[in-house]
Amino acid sequence: VIDIRKLYAQTGMFTYDPGFLSTAACQSGITYIDGDKGELLYRGYPIEQLATNCDYLETCHLLLYGELPDAKKKAEFNDLVTHHTMVNEQMQFFLRGFRRDAHPMAVMTGLVGGLSAFYHDSTDINNPEHREIAAIRLIAKMPTLVAMAYKYSIGQPFMYPKNELSYAGNFLHMMFATPCEPFKVSPTLEKALDRIFILHADHEQNASTSTVRLCGSSGTNPFAAIAAGVACLWGPAHGGANEACLNMLQEIQDMGGVDKIGDFIAKVKDKSSGVKLMGFGHRVYKNYDPRAKLMQETCKEVLAELGLENDPLLKIAVALEKIALEDEYFVSRKLYPNVDFYSGIVQRAIGIPVPLFTAVFALARTVGWIAQLNEMIADPEYKIGRPRQLFVGSERRDVKPIAQR
Ligand code: ACO
Repeated sequence: VIDIRKLYAQTGMFTYDPGFLSTAACQSGITYIDGDKGELLYRGYPIEQLATNCDYLETCHLLLYGELPDAKKKAEFNDLVTHHTMVNEQMQFFLRGFRRDAHPMAVMTGLVGGLSAFYHDSTDINNPEHREIAAIRLIAKMPTLVAMAYKYSIGQPFMYPKNELSYAGNFLHMMFATPCEPFKVSPTLEKALDRIFILHADHEQNASTSTVRLCGSSGTNPFAAIAAGVACLWGPAHGGANEACLNMLQEIQDMGGVDKIGDFIAKVKDKSSGVKLMGFGHRVYKNYDPRAKLMQETCKEVLAELGLENDPLLKIAVALEKIALEDEYFVSRKLYPNVDFYSGIVQRAIGIPVPLFTAVFALARTVGWIAQLNEMIADPEYKIGRPRQLFVGSERRDVKPIAQR
């Protein structure tokens, strides 16, 4: 057997693969995607079964520890997470330094990185106990931080976590309750949000997860590595697509609604426009993203529950999907809806403002980032990530004195 890495190191050979189209950067046993079949498994379990039979914290347990919890372990894990839902009170002052109209992802990048300044006993990435407590803290505190960022942006007081509620229910409480009025969590919205969290929990070596691994490979602390993931997720080609998708549906609505979809698609097909169909296409799925199917189901349930079946953006999304799936441009390139196509409509129906969508994605993906980070650090073959380059710049030359340049 040839150890290709040793061979390359000895001969100075390396591969050139921009965008990692055909290069595996790691071995992983967490998430499996069959892009041709449109299949997604977390630790072997189909996403459809997890989304139907489990809640988000069970899914977190599965991703972190490799197995679904039994009832006792589930209760212990829930207790552990809820014990850490509050954030250090000083974090408020850090948050208050931001402009109120700052983008939530700008705020989240800062706050998540800032956790390392508050929890010094969990910053050694090579210490399994530090990693364990950092993992629990991050999973527990992300909803609190996202809700704080929202409350701050609208000038309302922060709502402290209510630990008797479910993970999703507590997030809804911290987002929408006020100290003035009683707030009742809607079971339908709670279930829908929990499903959004499950569907976004992990997705193997996507851009933000690879960023977390690369960042963590330098031995930095877990909070800093997760903050790097948040920053990467923000981009519209990745997690920012849910916000971009809803803005796109709104743009079509403003153009005149369903009748104008043809005009919009023509713009997408004209490459010089630079316009993409947001929420469509995926590097790995060359078939329907299974998460999009589940999200569409949830979307219909939520809108029916809220009496919003005639929501104009849902009508545009359904018609747009149908037209695109029959259009040669999309068919020949195997472009199908991805998870972001319907998740924005669900989040908006829940009452989550559009600029917060990607922060909700980050909240849900945190467990996946941590599971991947743990897997990497525990791997005896783990090395600092250090890509090579093909140098195409200037040859060696001499510096001239400034007067002669
Ligand atoms: N709309 C129009 N055309 C598209 C789209 C789209 N959404 N996605 C891909 N294409 C076209 C490309 O222009 C390219 O066409 P060409 O062969 O004529 O040059 C072809 O399809 C292949 O696309 P690539 O860009 O090579 O695919 P890649 O794997 O690099 O990109 C990506 C995947 C970034 C997801 C892309 O499909 C995209 O930008 N989609 C819209 C943004 C989006 O929804 N992102 C969310 C992804 S899921 C997630 O991160 C949670």
